[in-house]
Amino acid sequence: MEREQGVATLTHIVVLPVPMQGHINPMLQFSKRLASKGLKVTLLTTSSIIKSMKGQASSITIEPIADDTGDIETAETMEAYVDRFKVMFSRSLGDLIEKNKSYGYTTKLVVYDCILLGTLDVARQHGVGGAPFITQSCTIAAIYHHLYQGRIRIPLEEPAVSLPSLPLLRIDDMPSFISQPELYPALLRLCVDDFRNFHEVNWVFCNSFDKLEEEVVSWLSTQWPITNIGPTIPSMYLDKRLKDDKNYDLNVFKPNVDACMKWLDSKEIGTVVYVSFGSLATLGEEQMEELAWALKRSNSYFLWVVRETETKKLPINFLEETSERGMVVTWCPQLEVLAHKAVGCFMTHGGWNSTLEALSLGVPVVSMPQWSDQATNSKFLMDVWKVGIRVKVDEKGIVTREEIELCIKEVMGERGTEIKGNAMKWKKLAREALDEGGSSDKNIDDFVAKIVHT
Ligand code: UDX
Repeated sequence: MEREQGVATLTHIVVLPVPMQGHINPMLQFSKRLASKGLKVTLLTTSSIIKSMKGQASSITIEPIADDTGDIETAETMEAYVDRFKVMFSRSLGDLIEKNKSYGYTTKLVVYDCILLGTLDVARQHGVGGAPFITQSCTIAAIYHHLYQGRIRIPLEEPAVSLPSLPLLRIDDMPSFISQPELYPALLRLCVDDFRNFHEVNWVFCNSFDKLEEEVVSWLSTQWPITNIGPTIPSMYLDKRLKDDKNYDLNVFKPNVDACMKWLDSKEIGTVVYVSFGSLATLGEEQMEELAWALKRSNSYFLWVVRETETKKLPINFLEETSERGMVVTWCPQLEVLAHKAVGCFMTHGGWNSTLEALSLGVPVVSMPQWSDQATNSKFLMDVWKVGIRVKVDEKGIVTREEIELCIKEVMGERGTEIKGNAMKWKKLAREALDEGGSSDKNIDDFVAKIVHT
């Protein structure tokens, strides 16, 4: 029987993320938290993801989904992929339930990535409950819900959108699927459809914490049983005295741990700009060139993650010309990097995980959003949480080297002191939410107590 601390139970939970880095990370960490409270947890994912795992997530079981669902990146359409995933999942779930029953465990709930439409129906067909997990912010969930309820009309016609419990959002603060609906209509449909059956479930888990999004959480709780359980940062990064599994044990990309950490160790406190645009975003060649020369002009040290598929876009001679001040890697242990004292600024695309990681580790940001939820996250980083600056895009749709240089210098310079102060405040609040009795910890405890007794 699984037992680390808290109650020992024979309750089994299945966790089903979309097999992509930005979705697996938070759901994996949530799984570990549930296991630490005494539940048996199986994370179900594709065999290709399992093969790419580094190390072991020892407290939980990781099982492959029946057959393989194919690669999400090369799927003909997202909807077709989700449909195929549903069929595979149904088969796997039946097998898992039987297997666990033979060990004495009762499978009670499937926690599923909210994008995986139809999972709730599949779980119910197997006599199991379901609870969606939102890997983006409560704010984003609220915006899509407002759209679903008809409070937003697209294409957007007004210069700004006013919605209950949210600050005034300009068009370019809105999720890109709404501000540019012509680009990804299928993804927009998926995001809005997510919420169709949220009123039928007992928990809607979200990777956020109550103090971070107070007003919108309070509004959402009038709509669904919203349950914040984040930030899903392993506690060892928030409190150096603690030890637990590291985040990068399920990395789809291989981090260059030793080289990054050794390089950072050789730098003074707060002198390095860490640059990463997450696991998906791709920059155009011109934009890549502007960013590269901006880093050189900033006169700061920089650690830049350029994924393998992007390296060919680096300007000729860039590596040679910047070898004294910069290090370029194809992937890094981001949490360890952000927690390193040498890092003074995080230049980010504003993905939700990166946003939460910057806030939770108290690192000021320069944000350069690319698509999806990132513009909205960037608006909040700059104007609501006040932990950074968002770059301005010029009339040609490019962020120039001068603009990036200016933003980095501002955050690394005098203005940075005030921003750093705010970042440290959020770091403290994030830690409090996760500490014993904190809002997210309590939400998890309440959930465990309920699920064990149902
Ligand atoms: C995507 C979307 O872009 C994001 O907006 C959405 O909320 C989740 O899915 P992604 O673009 O990959 O995710 O960005 P982000 O959410 O920031 O997640 C990236 C994850 O990869 C983070 O947990 C980060 O710590 C990790 N990472 C990134 C590394 O471990 N090493 C790296 O070198 C870069």
